[in-house]
Amino acid sequence: MAVRPIVRLGHPALRTPARAVDLERVDDTELQQLIDDLFETMQEADGVGLAAPQVGVEEQLFVWAAIDPDRPPAETEGPELHVVLNPGIEPQSRDLVSDWEGCLSIPDLRGLVPRHAALRLHGFDRHGERIERTLEGYEARIVQHEFDHLNGIVFLDRMRDLRSLAFSDEWRRYMTADDVDDDEPAVG
Ligand code: NI
Repeated sequence: MAVRPIVRLGHPALRTPARAVDLERVDDTELQQLIDDLFETMQEADGVGLAAPQVGVEEQLFVWAAIDPDRPPAETEGPELHVVLNPGIEPQSRDLVSDWEGCLSIPDLRGLVPRHAALRLHGFDRHGERIERTLEGYEARIVQHEFDHLNGIVFLDRMRDLRSLAFSDEWRRYMTADDVDDDEPAVG
């Protein structure tokens, strides 16, 4: 496994719709290596999600960690790691919920982003088996953020009001409630 460089805003891979993964080559070393590298790169960067275009690979796959921010770390045995190839999402609620996000490709910035509270995710796992899951809350937010990366969309595009945009230090100092965990990771 290897940590790959994360590309930043301005790199064309972040603004190009990714192509579908060829499921005929799902067992190829190259693709399996990419998946392992995405996990390692995400964890090294303290992210909770990472899409292939963020390491310059314009293919439809992303990884995420199912961290529950409401559960103290001591109760968890490390995050559950997931990958999906050729994903599709269907919102399960019309309600949009705003919460803070950051992006590993837009370092040091945070903003309030409206997202669907729940969704159905379908796609394929790393062995090419079909998967379908219902997600809600923080995990649904992560998946919507990563799914956007496959379509050349970043969280800034989703913000309704750019006035909530803040640098991380200032966000911690001025914009979080006292009960918010300062170590809450950037999204990815
Ligand atoms: Ni991102």
